[in-house]
Amino acid sequence: MATIKFKDVTKSFDNGKVTVIPRLSLDIKDKEFVVLVGPSGCGKSTTLRMIAGLEGVSSGELYIDEKKVNDVPPKDRDIAMVFQSYALYPHMTVYKNMAFALKLKKIPKEEIDKKVMWAAKILDIEPYLDRKPKALSGGQRQRVALGRAMVRNPKVFLLDEPLSNLDAKLRTEMRSQITMLHKKLQTTFVYVTHDQTEAMTMADRIVVMDKGVIQQYDTPQKLYNEPANMFVAGFIGSPQMNFIDSTVIRSGKDIKISFSEYELDVPKSKKQALESYIGKDIIIGIRPEHILSDSTPDKEKGSCILNVTADLAEMTGNETNVYFDLNGQKYIARIKTERKISSGDSVKLYIDENTVHFFDKDSTAAI
Ligand SMILES: Nc1ncnc2c1ncn2[C@@H]1O[C@H](COP(=O)(O)OP(=O)(O)OP(=O)(O)O)[C@@H](O)[C@H]1O
Ligand SMILES: [Mg+2]
Repeated sequence: MATIKFKDVTKSFDNGKVTVIPRLSLDIKDKEFVVLVGPSGCGKSTTLRMIAGLEGVSSGELYIDEKKVNDVPPKDRDIAMVFQSYALYPHMTVYKNMAFALKLKKIPKEEIDKKVMWAAKILDIEPYLDRKPKALSGGQRQRVALGRAMVRNPKVFLLDEPLSNLDAKLRTEMRSQITMLHKKLQTTFVYVTHDQTEAMTMADRIVVMDKGVIQQYDTPQKLYNEPANMFVAGFIGSPQMNFIDSTVIRSGKDIKISFSEYELDVPKSKKQALESYIGKDIIIGIRPEHILSDSTPDKEKGSCILNVTADLAEMTGNETNVYFDLNGQKYIARIKTERKISSGDSVKLYIDENTVHFFDKDSTAAI
């Protein structure tokens, strides 16, 4: 069993001059696969290194398995960390790389052998056990790095951008391998990446961080469907959500959203919340995949119809990215390629108000 708990943890460097984590509270459940995402420099690695004990916490409390570990050295935390750079010993064979930590612990040879062979089998690296790392591909090296962590039977696996040195195809392959490994090992995984696709596909829950502050901690589905603020909404999803300046207006007894010379109905569930915004500016968020073309069956089309000219149409296979401009606001739509659209075409596009997100302009929080 291994739960991880941050309670009001802060982290600063340079004698308190630089605060990287202003105050972090986070609960990770036993056997959970949690992914930390966020832009470069937001404090992902620092958070992971605090769990490993490679960085101390400046204040607050950190618990592993309900035991306070603020003063527990890394070697006594029962944790294994895998880095982006693999950090394999170049002069040792794959076998020795994997056996090394166990040998230091004076574990009997037969037991070491059993463990190494077990990990090698799961990771499919048995044929390379006698090779040195330089004779391996990037993906094979990364698997050795994972194997080296596995043989130690850690309570927690910490992985810091383990796939970022691999090419796109190998990344996808290793991504599913790590997910399967997690299922097999039934251990807590904390995984750092700045790749939102990795986060969405691998995580049970995702921590979205910005400047050392958690913006939202939830399942991939929740982050996509109900982003807490514009930062999360913009970070999750590709191409990025369209953010459009708009105004909440009264329309008879009803309220509507006015944007780029168009009007949008307000979904029932949002009417009450938007009531207090009448006459005020808000930001609406529309995901590119939620802008539909006339090839979409009627029932899925929205109430709002846009007449646009495609400034640019990028065919990416089964979908086409359509860029257009309405009253100086730039939009991107992702349209199924069965409706063929070329640059310069005039097209009718549809928005279903139930797929639109609403944000407070000042706080950027979801309404
Ligand atoms: N030892 C240190 N001394 C001073 N500042 C540091 C130290 N280590 C990290 N920082 C700063 O802390 C901030 C967070 O760094 P961290 O490495 O955690 O970011 P990250 O989210 O992992 O970024 P990336 O995606 O680029 O790896 C950065 O601004 C970094 O410069
Ligand atoms: Mg980092």
